[in-house]
Amino acid sequence: MKTATSREESLDRVRLRSLMRREEERFAATHPKSKALFERARQSLLGGVPMNWMAKWAGAFPVFVAEARGARFTDVDGHEYVDLCLGDTGAMTGHSPEPALRAIADQAARGITFMLPTENAIWVGEELQRRFRLPYWQFCLTATDANRFSIRLAREVTQRKLVLVFNYCYHGTVDESFITLKDGAPAPRRGNIGPPVNPAVTTRVVEFNDVDALEKELASHEIACVLCEPAMTNVGIVHPDPGYHQALRSLTRKHGTLLIVDETHTICAGPGGFTREHELEPDFFVLGKPLASGLPAATYGFTQEVGERILQRIKVEDCDTGGIGGTLAGNALSLAAMRATLERVLTPAAFAHMVPLAERFTSGVEAAIAEFSVPWHVTRLGCRAEYLFTAERPRNGAQAAAAMDFELERFMHLYALNRGILLTPFHNMALMSPATTAADVDQHTRVFREAVAELLP
Ligand SMILES: Cc1ncc(COP(=O)(O)O)c(C=O)c1O
Repeated sequence: MKTATSREESLDRVRLRSLMRREEERFAATHPKSKALFERARQSLLGGVPMNWMAKWAGAFPVFVAEARGARFTDVDGHEYVDLCLGDTGAMTGHSPEPALRAIADQAARGITFMLPTENAIWVGEELQRRFRLPYWQFCLTATDANRFSIRLAREVTQRKLVLVFNYCYHGTVDESFITLKDGAPAPRRGNIGPPVNPAVTTRVVEFNDVDALEKELASHEIACVLCEPAMTNVGIVHPDPGYHQALRSLTRKHGTLLIVDETHTICAGPGGFTREHELEPDFFVLGKPLASGLPAATYGFTQEVGERILQRIKVEDCDTGGIGGTLAGNALSLAAMRATLERVLTPAAFAHMVPLAERFTSGVEAAIAEFSVPWHVTRLGCRAEYLFTAERPRNGAQAAAAMDFELERFMHLYALNRGILLTPFHNMALMSPATTAADVDQHTRVFREAVAELLP
């Protein structure tokens, strides 16, 4: 595991800070309109941003977008960017893909929300069945809600209280998930805002890939569900060890715990997500973000057995209370967009284009890492790639978190932004869309190589 000391040894911090100052000045000088809009925004939006995470972009203010199409966007100062962030997966479809645009415009002209079903809901349910091999589906507006509703249902049908998650997971703004292991003991995650209770009351947490710790917790028979990403993607990418998913599935079955697989990011693995690529058998399957080409939409599916157990416990008279639903959930507009996205955008052919681009990205970054012998590595999951500031590939969240380097990360992001490349504001993720090209990837490789070269004395 990389430590702060070894980080200091491998990098000249004085040089890094001086380069960062240069990049900050360049950014401010070349983005006067974004800067002016940010100053104006500070008068009406807390911190000058419409949503608190947007304060995290590298640079003194975020760039304001003028328009986007496919894998590129233009800011208000007229700069064009290759978008490798793609709305942190919300726009993995590329921005405003034509089939979704047409479906959205067509449905919007014929009604947006009714609290009544449309035939598109059935089409989407049938397609989700085919792709992910679970019989029953429900819709909501965000992946966070899909996770929250799956947890509630799991608690209800198992009549157990606790949730188990993995250290350094992220599943949206789900209260139960903001827990971490501090010196081996569960503790609230740093930055957790106004938690209703200490998450140790609701949640058990273990390291990913640690079968013994998992079994020990499950053996209490108090755990309703395990909520997991099949490969971790929110602390860099952490792949499961060979055999880990088989162990997770057989142990959850043995101890009567339901398994929720959150594929909101790992849908990047292929048209059927990680679940189909690796033949997982979850009890619940969650997907949000790109499902409707960026329009708010999410879904959760479950097994026949879970479906029957839910129906036994929920009466029609009470079905509009109890913490599952949402007035706009399953609305006609998002279902039309979901249908177009599944039918015409996130197709097997699209993945056949996107995955080789992510391979190209990783080989380009790998070559630069090798050329300059920096102790970093790059990893890939389907059409998603990510570099991390440690030579060893982490096997769990704690190891991945120890390799994070906020200062260096910000420099890499701002350096890229100043040269027309947008990475996510969180860690170093790059995502390919159906509209991304080899030239886009090569532009990133050139810029990445230049940044590494500049960092070295
Ligand atoms: C794995 C995973 N699940 C769920 C979510 C929540 O998505 P949303 O913020 O759209 O609700 C995220 C967000 O980053 C995520 O990474």
